[in-house]
Amino acid sequence: MNKAGLEDVVASQTAISYIDGQKGDLFYRGYHINDLAEHANFEQTAYLLWFGDFPTEEQYRRVCGLVHDQLGLPKEMMAILFDLPDTAGPMQALRTAISALALHDPEANDNSPEANQQKAMHLMAHFPEIVAANYRIATGQWPLQPMERCGLAANFLWLLKGCEPEPLHVEAMDKCLVLHAEHGLNASTFSARVAASTLSDMYSAVTAALGTLLGPLHGGANQHVMEMLVEVGDPKHAEAYVKNALANKQRIMGFGHRVYKVEDPRAIILREISKELCEQTGNIKYYEISEKIREVTYAEKGLYPNVDFYSATALHALGIKTELFTTIFAVSRVVGWTAHVMEQHADNRLIRPRSEYIGHKNRTFTPIPGCRQAYH
Ligand code: SDX
Repeated sequence: MNKAGLEDVVASQTAISYIDGQKGDLFYRGYHINDLAEHANFEQTAYLLWFGDFPTEEQYRRVCGLVHDQLGLPKEMMAILFDLPDTAGPMQALRTAISALALHDPEANDNSPEANQQKAMHLMAHFPEIVAANYRIATGQWPLQPMERCGLAANFLWLLKGCEPEPLHVEAMDKCLVLHAEHGLNASTFSARVAASTLSDMYSAVTAALGTLLGPLHGGANQHVMEMLVEVGDPKHAEAYVKNALANKQRIMGFGHRVYKVEDPRAIILREISKELCEQTGNIKYYEISEKIREVTYAEKGLYPNVDFYSATALHALGIKTELFTTIFAVSRVVGWTAHVMEQHADNRLIRPRSEYIGHKNRTFTPIPGCRQAYH
């Protein structure tokens, strides 16, 4: 019997990314994440993940143009966002909107490579728009139209905040989007592949992935990290907080990983981004608390930070509200999900594992008094 949670089970083949959990290396289509974070932007990374190689200048212009041309939410989509109940959180709103978006795409159920590529660009363009529009509606602000001639990271910050973003913030957001774009068969990507393996459509697969990412053991962790930092409040309280949490068998959010046995390479890069942004804002308290928590958690439990730990302070320093953190993860990861859906559809076999039965066996049926009739 395999370990619980399909640990170490190789459930499919992929050429999209490779994780070396022992060495702490991550490669997108053979390129190391350090090189990508340093030298590639989100649009180039998306092209690489979708098509297997970096675009030529002409291909880059075409894809950016195609993604940019998709910007601008259908009016019916805005109506849905305005009608959502106040109780709808940002991830629930995004999940609902993406499911509805499919109803406005005539190619929604066409799983051909060409239609899937169009849908992937469609989703890449609309995710940030939906997140930003929903946030502005929920905070009593009118949604904005995208800026002309700028990258997705800059447009996303504009659509969220309504002011021209600083170059440092654009660069930091772009790196965050590159770093969160793809990570092998993580739970949400696995959901997308299982849905795609039934030959269901890309929108359905992405909706399944969104519901999976939401969980606090996965993409929801970054919000809980920020809530933890606020609760700790001061670096001198960090040690007691961690020791108390561990003594009570609580998880320190943003730590540990199913695959990495050393530090998550994305956390190393995000730590630098977080430090630079926090220093630029002049408020490094949460970064200092993070460092103390990192030190104590490793000393007490031998655990390393994962991608969610420093993304929390980086996004906070960008002025992004905590409740939006997981949607930022989704804005990036939709590229990985769509790449995996295309890979699954291109060489498909239904994903259907077995389970070990541990329930009752061979029970004798005795009639249930008075309940036989189908209708009363
Ligand atoms: C992401 O899969 C991916 O690639 C995901 C991701 C991606 O890019 O898609 O990398 C993004 O989801 C990162 C993870 C975000 N989640 C969190 O930060 C939540 C906190 N972390 C944990 O719950 C946990 O580390 C997981 C869920 C991430 C991994 O869990 P596993 O592999 O199932 O490990 P486990 O729960 O079996 O724990 C093994 C041991 C246990 O100790 P013992 O009971 O054996 O003594 O490690 C301990 C756990 O108690 N442990 C933790 C811990 N994580 C593991 N103890 C305290 N705090 C933690 N965070």
